[in-house]
Amino acid sequence: MPALKSCFILGVLATIVNAAVHELIVGTFVSKALYTLAFDDEDNSLELIANISTPVPSSWISLSHDKKHLYGTDYIYVGADHNRTIPPVYVGYTIHNSSSITLDKSLSGVRPCNGSSIYIIPSPNPPHAVYGADYWGTPGCGCVMSVDASGALSEVIQDFEYLNDSGVHGMSFSPGSQVLYSADTLGNYLWTHAIDPTTGRLGEVLGMAEGPSPKAHPRHVVTHPSGKAIYAVMEGSSEVAWYTVDSTTNVPTMQEPMYSLLPSGTNGFSYWGDTLALSASAKYLWATTRAKNDGVPGYIAVYELNCDGTIVKEKFLKETTTSGGVANALQPAEFSDRYAALTDNEIGFVEIWEMRGDGSDADVIARIDLADQGNARYASGCCANAVWLN
Ligand SMILES: *[C@@H]1O[C@H](CO)[C@@H](O)[C@H](O)[C@H]1NC(C)=O
Ligand SMILES: *[C@@H]1O[C@H](CO)[C@@H](O)[C@H](O)[C@H]1NC(C)=O
Ligand SMILES: *[C@@H]1O[C@H](CO)[C@@H](O)[C@H](O)[C@H]1NC(C)=O
Ligand SMILES: *[C@@H]1O[C@H](CO)[C@@H](O)[C@H](O)[C@H]1NC(C)=O
Ligand SMILES: *[C@@H]1O[C@H](CO)[C@@H](O)[C@H](O)[C@H]1NC(C)=O
Repeated sequence: MPALKSCFILGVLATIVNAAVHELIVGTFVSKALYTLAFDDEDNSLELIANISTPVPSSWISLSHDKKHLYGTDYIYVGADHNRTIPPVYVGYTIHNSSSITLDKSLSGVRPCNGSSIYIIPSPNPPHAVYGADYWGTPGCGCVMSVDASGALSEVIQDFEYLNDSGVHGMSFSPGSQVLYSADTLGNYLWTHAIDPTTGRLGEVLGMAEGPSPKAHPRHVVTHPSGKAIYAVMEGSSEVAWYTVDSTTNVPTMQEPMYSLLPSGTNGFSYWGDTLALSASAKYLWATTRAKNDGVPGYIAVYELNCDGTIVKEKFLKETTTSGGVANALQPAEFSDRYAALTDNEIGFVEIWEMRGDGSDADVIARIDLADQGNARYASGCCANAVWLN
């Protein structure tokens, strides 16, 4: 049973390999900055170690497979703009070290998709192409970008369309990057596109799974390392759905039950499902939802998984400190199954959550406020999402 064995060994390693100080990079919605933080897992301190000026704010950032490059969105809120004439822009940086991050390049979608870039993710497999999604554009579009030999963003190699009413907010790959899954929030679909293994360009649409209900609105999607399951969080209904994946086509099929990110009796339309992500060993799935009103807390949940990705059970569902603003974005650590960073935009802070040893609960063990200038839509300029450098 090789799969079970490696799943078990990974789980053990993930809880014992533990350096003392870990660094994170945090993106923003408004402020033109990337913040680097240091988290010490011995004394639980969380400090700002660099405030790096950038040409644009990035509502979503992601790291290359070797963590030498960072990719981001050039984010502008254009949801109320019905005559937008500018295509989405994506940015790439070189990480020299945690306090020196420099711009490599900005790339623009070449078709007039006219949305704002909202999400970006590099493939962990060669040729390490980078995939971007725009939002509020008509039609909903995406962009495939190549990288040079060092991993720096190079050029747009493909612009592609979803549907006129689409707006993709999150993407994930099958383990070998044979396919790309796209969570189409506005279109209410989960797409499966074939990926050309040589170029990284997208090929045919292999599947379009409708959201579990008309107003579910899939927002983020993540793939279990076994390749046998994927998970999606629904923005509209604040639910987590899981899907088994066909071993030949990589196309997902939804399974029962769905898991609510809200206590029973709560009005789902007052919340926006946000992120979901796997713990280091993939033993746990973490997920969050945000409250639409400041002063009302959002929720965080953890689910226990089998080695094949089946959800065993919900471990806990707990209020977050604030609504999360438009964030409450969660990123589990890579050095342990037990830690995750959570960003807030109501006040503008980053928290570190630690799960108890048996996974039955989690607590905030560190927090740093980065409350910089927001605007009419964003209470604080900070904090969009965080990524762990180590
Ligand atoms: C959209 O913007 C263009 C360029 O600024 C302008 O010429 C056009 O009249 C605008 N259309 C509408 C419907 O506002
Ligand atoms: C997008 O902007 C271009 C100008 O850059 C304009 O010609 C086009 O009509 C716009 N598309 C939509 C769907 O508004
Ligand atoms: C980070 O990199 C910059 C630029 O290469 C360099 O000047 C600085 O000394 C480095 N800092 C550390 C802590 O290594
Ligand atoms: C998208 O909208 C345009 C303009 O209304 C229309 O010409 C086109 O057929 C639509 N495409 C799809 C896939 O519905
Ligand atoms: C980062 O630096 C900018 C420019 O000096 C400043 O406006 C901003 O408040 C700083 N952010 C934090 C969290 O200190």
